[in-house]
Amino acid sequence: MNKFIGYRCSLCGREYLPGQVTYTCPQDGGNLDVVLDYASLHGKYQPEDITSRTDPSLWRYLPLLPVSEPPGDSTPLHAAGWTPVFDLPRLADKLGLQNLWLKDESRNPTASFKDRASAVVVARAQEMKAEVVVTASTGNAGAALAGMAAAIGQKAVIFAPKSAPQAKVAQLLIFGAKVILVDGTYDDAFDLSIKAANEFGWYCRNTGYNPFTAEGKKTAAFEIWEWWTEKHREWHEDNVSREHHAPLTVFVSVGDGNIISGIHKGFKDLLALGWISGMPRLIGVQAEGSAAIANAFHAGQETIVPVSAKTIADSISVDLPRDGVRAVRAARETNGTYLTVSDEEILRAIAELGKMGVFAEPAGAAAYAGLVRAAGSGVVGSEDPILVMNTGSGLKDIRAAMKAVVEAPVIEPVLKAVRKVVRDLL
Ligand SMILES: Cc1ncc(COP(=O)(O)O)c(C=O)c1O
Ligand SMILES: [Zn+2]
Repeated sequence: MNKFIGYRCSLCGREYLPGQVTYTCPQDGGNLDVVLDYASLHGKYQPEDITSRTDPSLWRYLPLLPVSEPPGDSTPLHAAGWTPVFDLPRLADKLGLQNLWLKDESRNPTASFKDRASAVVVARAQEMKAEVVVTASTGNAGAALAGMAAAIGQKAVIFAPKSAPQAKVAQLLIFGAKVILVDGTYDDAFDLSIKAANEFGWYCRNTGYNPFTAEGKKTAAFEIWEWWTEKHREWHEDNVSREHHAPLTVFVSVGDGNIISGIHKGFKDLLALGWISGMPRLIGVQAEGSAAIANAFHAGQETIVPVSAKTIADSISVDLPRDGVRAVRAARETNGTYLTVSDEEILRAIAELGKMGVFAEPAGAAAYAGLVRAAGSGVVGSEDPILVMNTGSGLKDIRAAMKAVVEAPVIEPVLKAVRKVVRDLL
């Protein structure tokens, strides 16, 4: 069955066949949604056909993806996705919530959510027999592409701003990608990478440009769906008396807007298949200093006005978000909203999550910082079940992490010196 039947432009609604376009709508530059043959899929699969698959990775959703399985079984490419969900009861108590969980995307092979997108784009590149895949990146998308490509010997070129955290640049280099650091912003790197892709005939993975990134990211929605269904089954079996009628509310940090629109697409696929009856609420969190999508959302419009981005959360520092329109809709169409958080709130969130055993990079912790805001302002109620996405590992930006904590004392190697500091430590 050919399940991938084409693209639909998110702006003008024009439809294209799979071979007709590669990136965005030729008419208006709109982001393209991948269209699957939902009628055939509906006839062919029941939810159990997916949930009974045993692959502990996003490839368990292959029947709902517009690619065929890539080579490289038992490589990191086949280990992307299927991330754990943790209970956060102490933080729930603190915020006056009854149910709070965190889905930890830092457990992906290259330690961020972006592995989902890169795994699917690499699969697409293999189908197209692309010699080189290129991406612009604030760091994580590049590390993900470099890692997934390295796993199967695919060549990759990464354009990143020269200000990208060192750990992210180290990842790119260690994975053997050709790395080009741009003396400019992420947006400069983005535009340049597209020019280079056109000039050299490379396949471009750019976020909010290549339609297959959202298809990879939608697999997080499928995992949330499986987990949430299982949670309900457990509650039912245990006769948990508490009512859980409120929809799940998902908090996710937003830069270009492709993660939130990818998650939205996943839930829309499930709705189209008739496997869910309603949508979770999607709440996007941006840094105050990089809030172009939140601004548009609150102005009640889809026109994205660029900002001059400045935030400690480098992964979500974007002047002109490339998937802004779909990101605005992801919140609007699910009864969600957008929140903005300051760098101080992000640093506090890193420290709070750390005390729960979760080490998040600033962009990852921003989602939790958003929840703190939301709980304090009535955007969520105490009975709302909440899932926070941690999209990246704190090990990727230890300079920022060190700003969230008090530095350790350095002492002479004698017990007397320990006695002196121990009172302050415990
Ligand atoms: C850790 C992390 N969180 C959040 C985001 C935001 O994703 P998007 O740009 O698709 O909105 C990114 C993007 O680079 C990221 O790396
Ligand atoms: Zn269009």
